[in-house]
Amino acid sequence: MTETQLAAKALKAGHAVAFPTETVYGLGADAQNRTAVSRIYTVKDRPQDHPLIVHISNPNLLNHWAIQIPDYAIKLAKDFWPGPMTLILKRSQNAKDFITGGQESIGIRIPNHPVAKELLKEFEALGGKGVAAPSANRFGKVSPTTKKAVEEELSQYLTKNDLILEGGPSQVGIESTIIDCMNDSPSILRPGAITQSMIENSTNLKTTKANTSIRVSGSLEQHYSPRAKVILNQTPKEGDGFIALKNIPTPKGAIRLAEPKDTSEYARILYSSLRLADEKNLKTVIAITPEGDELSIAI
Ligand code: TXA
Ligand code: MG
Repeated sequence: MTETQLAAKALKAGHAVAFPTETVYGLGADAQNRTAVSRIYTVKDRPQDHPLIVHISNPNLLNHWAIQIPDYAIKLAKDFWPGPMTLILKRSQNAKDFITGGQESIGIRIPNHPVAKELLKEFEALGGKGVAAPSANRFGKVSPTTKKAVEEELSQYLTKNDLILEGGPSQVGIESTIIDCMNDSPSILRPGAITQSMIENSTNLKTTKANTSIRVSGSLEQHYSPRAKVILNQTPKEGDGFIALKNIPTPKGAIRLAEPKDTSEYARILYSSLRLADEKNLKTVIAITPEGDELSIAI
């Protein structure tokens, strides 16, 4: 048996499997198994009312989890799946409260990473309908973009039946764009690599402003947070970490953590740079936010 087949079996048996995706690594459990899903919350130390994204490989499974899917959502799915995009749709009766946090909506994503695709396909071959997976970090912390980062975050909370799959560094590096598709036009709940203009060009609709009553990552007071304090767009002091595009020189006394050449690379290395700051026991990181293209918004 291949490693992904073993992992699919472990998921089906109710164990947790952390797996790579192109955005960040996820901590997966069988989305139909209440006990397995509740372990995800324990391992992450995450509040129970936060909904989970269900990951599938076969687009036909969309109709298992969601109903009344608008045409524009189908268009987005055709244009951007597999890829770094999560659609929020009206839930079917298969999407239980333990997945949706009691909301009437369900988040679905088809990830684009060979290992994730293979794992989900094997899982579906065993009769599975989807894998619920948050990012594989402790609640409020920096999302992992490598297997090593997952191990550092979660190893001590996993059991010997759980698995962590290797898939190299995540190529997008920041979480999927979350799009609310419950209204007449799409609205972006969490920005990501699928940008507003990509969504508007695909659907021929203007995006509307997000309804902030929906619980979504990144809208909390503190989130995606390393131990170091991260300050945007200031001059670093002696010994501060420094993250900025390559064309910005390192100020005197600052510790350069990353010098990405463009916004794609900035997104890709952002979380590993924040982890590096913690490894170096830095107290403060100054990040100079990139400007100019839409990926900057997500960064
Ligand atoms: O890129 C990603 O989306 C990664 C990879 C692993 O797929 N996953 C991820 O999951 O970022 P998580 O749980 O860390 O963040 C997803 C956020 C949750 O905080 C939740 O609030 C929001 O998506 N979400 C999930 N289902 C939702 C729903 N039905 N309605 C509104 N927000 C939802
Ligand atoms: Mg997360």
